[in-house]
Amino acid sequence: MRKWLSVPILLLLMLFLSACGVIDTSGSEKGYIGISMPTKSSERWVNDGENMKKQFEKLGYKTDLQYAEDVVENQTAQIENMITKGVDVLVVAPIDGQAALTTVLERAHKQGIKIIAYDRLIQYSDYIDYYATFDNFQVGVLQGQYIEQKLGLKDGKGPFNIEIFAGSPDDNNAYFFFDGAMSILQPYIDSGRLVVKSGQTKFNQGATLRWDGAVAQARMDNLLSAYYTEDRLDAVLSPYDGISIGVISSLKGIGYGSAGKPMPVITGQDAELASIKSIIHGQQTQTIFKDTRQLAEKAVDMATAVLNGEKADVNDTKTYDNGAKIVPSFLLNPVSVDQTNYDSVLVGSGYYTAEQLGQKEEVAQ
Ligand code: GAL
Repeated sequence: MRKWLSVPILLLLMLFLSACGVIDTSGSEKGYIGISMPTKSSERWVNDGENMKKQFEKLGYKTDLQYAEDVVENQTAQIENMITKGVDVLVVAPIDGQAALTTVLERAHKQGIKIIAYDRLIQYSDYIDYYATFDNFQVGVLQGQYIEQKLGLKDGKGPFNIEIFAGSPDDNNAYFFFDGAMSILQPYIDSGRLVVKSGQTKFNQGATLRWDGAVAQARMDNLLSAYYTEDRLDAVLSPYDGISIGVISSLKGIGYGSAGKPMPVITGQDAELASIKSIIHGQQTQTIFKDTRQLAEKAVDMATAVLNGEKADVNDTKTYDNGAKIVPSFLLNPVSVDQTNYDSVLVGSGYYTAEQLGQKEEVAQ
C-alpha cells in the first residue's frame, strides 16, 4: 500500500464513500431485514410496516420496507429484489397466500434467508420458519358473539335478518374468521332465529376478493334490491373494516342510518381510523382491534431469534398447517371494540390520540 494512503486518509475515504451511499455502514452487520407488505391502501399495513421498521432499526438492523399495492406480481418482484440485495430475513404478509410465493421463497431459502409469515400464513412452502399472527378463529368468534349479544339471541329474541360477508379467498385468515363467526351464528341460522334472506351462507358466496370495499358495496347493493325492499336488514357479518365501510355506503344509499331506520348491527376488524369514527357516529357497530405494535414486536423477536440461531417464542404448534409443514406460530389476542370501550382500549393504550378520533371537536361542539 502506498505511503500517502495512511490510516486517517483511508478513514476519511470510507466516511466519504458511506456518505455517498457507495458503501453501507448502517447496521448491516447486525442483519438486513426485508419487509414485504401487501398494500398501503389499508391503513393497518402502513402501521404494521412502520412499526416493524422502527423497531428493527432501533435494534440496529437495516431494513427494506416495500408495499405491493395488492398486485401479486409486484410482491414477487419486490421479494426477488430483496434477495438480490442480500437480506438475511424476509418478513412477508402475502397478498396471495396460496402458492404465488412458493418459487421465490424457495430461491430465498437457497440463499440462506430465513422467512417469517406476518399476520397471513404463507401456504405450500417448506421454508416458512415462523408465523406471527393473532388468534384468527377467535377474531371470528368475537364478531359472531357481538351479533349474538347485540340482537339478544341468547335471550330468545328474533327472528332477525342477517347477511354474511367473508374475506379474500386467497387469504387463509379469511377462512378462520368465517369459521369462527359461523361457529356462533350457524346454530341460530339452523334454528331460524337468524334468517339469511339471500340464502348465501357459504364462504364462497360471501367472499370478497382482495378484501375490496367496493366489491362488498356492489354485493350489498344487489342483496338490498333483491331481498330487502320490504323487509329490514338487522345485522351484517363483516370480517374487515374496509368491507364494513363499503356495506355502510350501500345501506346509506337506501336510507339506513337516518331517523326511523337505524343501521343494522355491523361488525368489522382492524380498528381503522375511519371505522372508529364511524363507530363513534353510530354507523358501524363494532370492530376487532389487533394491536399492530404487538404484532410487529413478535416479528422482530422472531427475526432476532433466527438470526442468532435460537428458537423463537411460540404458543401454537398445531393450528397452522400450510400444506407443506405445520408452521410454529405465535397467536396474539384480538379485542372487540365498540362505542363502550374504544376510548379506554385505543386512546388509553396510545394507539390513537383523542385528536385523531375527533373527540376534542365533539366535546367542543
Ligand atoms: C387479513 C388480516 C385482517 C385484515 C385483512 C384485510 O389478512 O388478518 O386484519 O387486515 O387481511 O387487509
